Amino acid sequence: MIRSVVRGFGIALPKRVLTNAELESMVDTSDDWIVQRTGIRQRYIAGEGETTASLGEGAARAALDKAGLTAADIDVIIVATSTPDNTFPATAVNIQNRLGMHHGFAFDVQAVCSGFVYAVTTADAYIRGGLAKRVLVIGAETFSRILDWTDRTTCVLFGDGAGAIVLEAQEGAGTNQDRGVLTTQLRSDGAHREKLYVDGGPSTTGTVGHLRMEGREVFKHAVGMITDVVVSSFDATGFSADDIDWLVPHQANKRIIDGSAKKLGIPLEKVVVTVDLHGNTSAASIPLALAAAASDGRIKEGDLVLLEAMGGGFTWGAVLLRW
Ligand code: ACO
Repeated sequence: MIRSVVRGFGIALPKRVLTNAELESMVDTSDDWIVQRTGIRQRYIAGEGETTASLGEGAARAALDKAGLTAADIDVIIVATSTPDNTFPATAVNIQNRLGMHHGFAFDVQAVCSGFVYAVTTADAYIRGGLAKRVLVIGAETFSRILDWTDRTTCVLFGDGAGAIVLEAQEGAGTNQDRGVLTTQLRSDGAHREKLYVDGGPSTTGTVGHLRMEGREVFKHAVGMITDVVVSSFDATGFSADDIDWLVPHQANKRIIDGSAKKLGIPLEKVVVTVDLHGNTSAASIPLALAAAASDGRIKEGDLVLLEAMGGGFTWGAVLLRW
């Protein structure tokens, strides 16, 4: 049985760090409030010349290096983003060109904070279906460019960055001891649209718009939705919370991460947290966290790794894989 195995990973962050202390001089907020409610201490903000595509390219190059591959070895590029450089062409095509890749194909997926989980699921389907041998999966965002910097209820939460992985077709035995993606679970429900959305777009206002959010409403739904897809992942594979070596959640808020881990019965020592350093980088947050734990030696070959996310739409999903 063909499995999609992670062969390389990489990240790219903007040069500029924005601390909570600096935010205190921009809006009526405090380091204490932000840390207590979210766990965020700083975030990276894209500067001049830094875009979703440039950050995505940086993460892609790092992932290719780590894998010992070049763009010539890649069949497909999938970019998860809600902050593309342009309405079209897709940021993935832009990155493809920046990498000097003129074969294969590239496209974006848009599922907001669940984007990386959606992109991995799509890549896994291409690989298992025999359509591709190697897929570059990138989560890249510049949320700083769709924030209302006068709205303290949203501007303190988000940051910019990119993370990438190379998924490669490898032969597995077809058991849950195989390396690679073991199950993926996706959900969406557009009834929740108004709770987290951008108030612009090409077909409505003709403007880019700003992020709008009912934070408390999002919070109320997050833990239940995350639990739903994780339990489905356990049902599909026969694993339980005790089998998980590392939980790598979408990094929206430390309280959501802790609440989900507690409800699932996964001890906090097994949870990878980078929200303190990056803030919420939407589709980039999981590959940024994954790379942090894989490069410092926490995640080792053979470990069972659970990815989960929930975001605008609402969308939510989980990926269970063996590293
Ligand atoms: N600094 C200081 N005070 C603030 C700030 C701020 N930045 N923002 C809001 N407040 C005030 C509010 O005005 C309110 O004041 P009031 O009581 O006088 O009206 C008070 O703080 C409490 O506001 P709440 O919105 O009730 O605060 P809450 O405890 O819910 O925390 C937060 C807000 C952090 C946004 C929380 O609701 C949350 O984390 N929600 C999840 C949203 C999220 O993470 N979204 C990310 C995108 S979706 C995703 O990735 C899953």
